[in-house]
Amino acid sequence: MRVLVTGGAGYIGSVVAAQLIAAGHDVTVLDDLSTGFAGAVPAGATFVKGTLRDCAAEVLSDGIEAVLHFAAKSLVGESVADPATYWSNNLGGTVSLLEAMREIGIRTIVFSSTAAVYGEPERTPIAETDPTRPTSPYGASKLAVDTTLTEFCRLYGFGAVSLRYFNVAGAHQSADGGWFGERHHPETHLIPNVLAAAAQGRPVQIFGDDYPTPDGTCLRDYIHVTDLADAHLRALGACRAGQHRIYNLGNGAGFSVREVIEVCREVTGDDIGADVGPRRAGDPAVLVASSAKIRSELGWRAARDLRAMAADAWRFTQARQSR
Ligand code: UFG
Repeated sequence: MRVLVTGGAGYIGSVVAAQLIAAGHDVTVLDDLSTGFAGAVPAGATFVKGTLRDCAAEVLSDGIEAVLHFAAKSLVGESVADPATYWSNNLGGTVSLLEAMREIGIRTIVFSSTAAVYGEPERTPIAETDPTRPTSPYGASKLAVDTTLTEFCRLYGFGAVSLRYFNVAGAHQSADGGWFGERHHPETHLIPNVLAAAAQGRPVQIFGDDYPTPDGTCLRDYIHVTDLADAHLRALGACRAGQHRIYNLGNGAGFSVREVIEVCREVTGDDIGADVGPRRAGDPAVLVASSAKIRSELGWRAARDLRAMAADAWRFTQARQSR
């Protein structure tokens, strides 16, 4: 199938693009390189540099049959400081994409949504039917796209799947041995920050240890980026005209910040130090997904555990340092 991957020069988009190519799809990547890297676009993909607003219509006209949509701003803190950019990019950019799809007659889309749509959860694990009360413009903008997709399915016969990721981690090794991993600037995510601390021989910061959890640090549901990519390929096959399906994507188990640091110590063989600082604004104590729905409806299973995520992220960190 000829597919467009928006944001395919970013962390998750590049891994999904690599998996699509490995599965025999013909992939075009559209990315404005505002946060992605041209070097992350997998070999075998056609790369177009540009924004959704300016370039979606032209790229889609080139025989594209389906879209996997990752292009977005994704920093919670930045969204609180600069909400207009999030509404404009994440909602405005997506509406441009959807309108271009409608005009050309492409109606199949898999959307990269987020656990941030739920905000502070009322219960654990979180199900897709639980209340959506985002606590940041980032989460609100992604929820607005989910709502727009529901409308486009109802009104125009789109077939859409939204995947609400919890904490994506790890790195992916493609068939030719290349590594695809996380390199955000600034990096805010826990595992790459712990591994950077190990590589640089300095302690990592723990953002608060006074949460109502067993060891006082926040619990998160980590999912390996390769397992996440597998879910996207299944979702692509599950798009049905007139239906908008929404699935949570996680492992269903929570690990604390301290537990993650411990696994990183085991994987790196380094006794990584940890300094406890104040809480980071907006962090819920516990975020764990129920992924029962995607398991039963799409037969998806997480095959890789936290140790594999830390080990692969560490291999990616080392591969980059040796270049
Ligand atoms: N943390 C630290 N030190 C660090 C980095 C993170 O202690 O250097 C802690 C955080 O406070 C949090 C946990 O590690 O308790 C995980 O933090 P991440 O930044 O790795 O991930 P988040 O849970 O904040 O982010 C995830 C997704 C976002 C989504 C958000 C919703 O990555 O896309 O959940 O809350 F928006």
